[in-house]
Amino acid sequence: MEVVAITSAKGGTSKTSTTQALAYGLHAKGKTVLMIDADAQANLSFSSGVDFKAVQADLYSVFKGADIDKAILEIKPGLHIVPGSVALMAADREFTGQRSFLILRDAVRKMQKRVDYVLIDTPPAVGLLTQNALAVADKLILPMRPDGFGLQGLSQMMAYIAEQRKRTNPGLQIDGILLTQCNSRNNVDKIITEQIYKMAERMGTKVYKSKIRMGTAVPASGLMRKSIYDAYPKAGVTLDYSNFVDEFMGGMTWQRIK
Ligand SMILES: Nc1ncnc2c1ncn2[C@@H]1O[C@H](COP(=O)(O)OP(=O)(O)OP(=O)(O)O)[C@@H](O)[C@H]1O
Ligand SMILES: [Mg+2]
Repeated sequence: MEVVAITSAKGGTSKTSTTQALAYGLHAKGKTVLMIDADAQANLSFSSGVDFKAVQADLYSVFKGADIDKAILEIKPGLHIVPGSVALMAADREFTGQRSFLILRDAVRKMQKRVDYVLIDTPPAVGLLTQNALAVADKLILPMRPDGFGLQGLSQMMAYIAEQRKRTNPGLQIDGILLTQCNSRNNVDKIITEQIYKMAERMGTKVYKSKIRMGTAVPASGLMRKSIYDAYPKAGVTLDYSNFVDEFMGGMTWQRIK
């Protein structure tokens, strides 16, 4: 089992879209995947088609002490989700005990040998939920928009990750920085690119070769509550995400649009 958290201190960097695209992509390659929606916005649960009315237990319940098995929903065989909910908004105030940042770690460890990947979508803030994700993750994916604010967010994240390594998870790796919402030709401004590569070096990580372009297929498939592969299999941004899945898995079988 490998635990991957998709995180950034900034909002709207494609954390949720990337979590979903990676989860469905890994699943299509025959891997078993559990997604964890650690965001009160519950965007990942919504866009993955979770029927909220039928949810009996979610991540909040797990924080309250429920067994994680009770909170796992099947999307299709081999692809599961622990849904998020608005109740998580109170997490920072509600769970304040000494071990409160290890609740997710204890729950996820029960999944050892039962799934290949656990992918955790985090909220756009560095509160208790993100802390929990970073305490259990083997590696992080840091999505960012290639602009000045993205860089600023990344440097804030660097300090935060260093702190979490000291506090809870010395082995925490940064798998890479994923450039998202790039312009249609995936050309990123040269000056920004240089800065991002420098930052990656300082963080001891890489920038993924795969970049994710802007594409209406992402918000549209979210609204349709389907994965981009199911809703828009031929879109450019779908291809970008497929390439990213290959790169993440270590086999760079690049495809380009004909
Ligand atoms: N490559 C893309 N092209 C076009 N729109 C995108 C792309 N990636 C994400 N979006 C859209 O941008 C918005 C933010 O994306 P997403 O929800 O994945 O980001 P996030 O980092 O999870 O946001 P938050 O910080 O609020 O959790 C969504 O409406 C999504 O559909
Ligand atoms: Mg999100």
